[in-house]
Amino acid sequence: MKVLVSDKMGEAGLDIFRNEEGIELDVKTGLSPEELKEIIGQYDGLAIRSATKVTSDIINAATNLKVIGRAGIGLDNVDIPAATQKGIAVMNTPGGNTRTTAEHAIAMMMSLTRNIPQGTATLKQSLWEKKNLQGRELFDKTLGLIGFGNIGSIVASLAQGLKMKVIIFDPNVTCEHIEKSGYECVTLEELYQRSDYITIHVPKLESTTNLLNKAAFEMMKQGVMIINCARGGIIHEGDLYDAIVSGKVAGAALDVFETEPPKGNPLLTLDRVIATPHLGASTQEAQTNVAVAVANQIIAYLKYNTIINA
Ligand code: MLT
Repeated sequence: MKVLVSDKMGEAGLDIFRNEEGIELDVKTGLSPEELKEIIGQYDGLAIRSATKVTSDIINAATNLKVIGRAGIGLDNVDIPAATQKGIAVMNTPGGNTRTTAEHAIAMMMSLTRNIPQGTATLKQSLWEKKNLQGRELFDKTLGLIGFGNIGSIVASLAQGLKMKVIIFDPNVTCEHIEKSGYECVTLEELYQRSDYITIHVPKLESTTNLLNKAAFEMMKQGVMIINCARGGIIHEGDLYDAIVSGKVAGAALDVFETEPPKGNPLLTLDRVIATPHLGASTQEAQTNVAVAVANQIIAYLKYNTIINA
């Protein structure tokens, strides 16, 4: 069985492939879509992160492919209907990078509320902006969490540790479960109206695209801060820009963008926006976890026809 790894992946995962009898591994990163299309027919398994775009064009050329494994969570770079139609299994690794991503969301919230990037940038310009960069405490503030899945639930517990009041909206989770976990379950409208900080932890779906739009910002508290370490496009970027310029939103911490890398994005011209280049899952630990998980999953599927989703 031949497996292609087409994005950079943790060595621990590559070693699992290399040490597995009956598996031949090729690591070829940075392929153009044409190059991938030309060689994909040789492979039984494909392991990717976010850079490789597995379009229907690639899938049509994948005459031997049985499984696509995404080392990470988001599957927005795979045409799942096209793969399913061809009988190709598509897997992600939902557990491997959740804590890392939750920690990044908290780091972004703290950096935003205490102006840490602005403090660093101005100090490096030999400026002492002590008066201009006064922040806000998180203690006793209300954090509205949209999405109580693997990542959202860790963010909730970390925020509770910071003594924030955590309120949660997730239409796919019962209020009973949210309340049993120690949080308040609210409607989306209530979350908008009551939150001092709002953090997003849902996938990008039709139902979540532009969820935070002009109408949503209008419902929010004056001076709310927004954190997005989920997916670009869940926030309407133009509406967020207007809400920041008007002062309704006091700041935004963005790890993800509608287009990545963002080119000429007006949000990045605002002082009240802090940003990272989709670093949510970028820790050594998480990248090892997802690489190991995806290797085990692909091998289990190819050799034993077994599905693991770790
Ligand atoms: C994920 O979906 O796993 C994260 O966003 C990480 C990534 O895409 O690099």
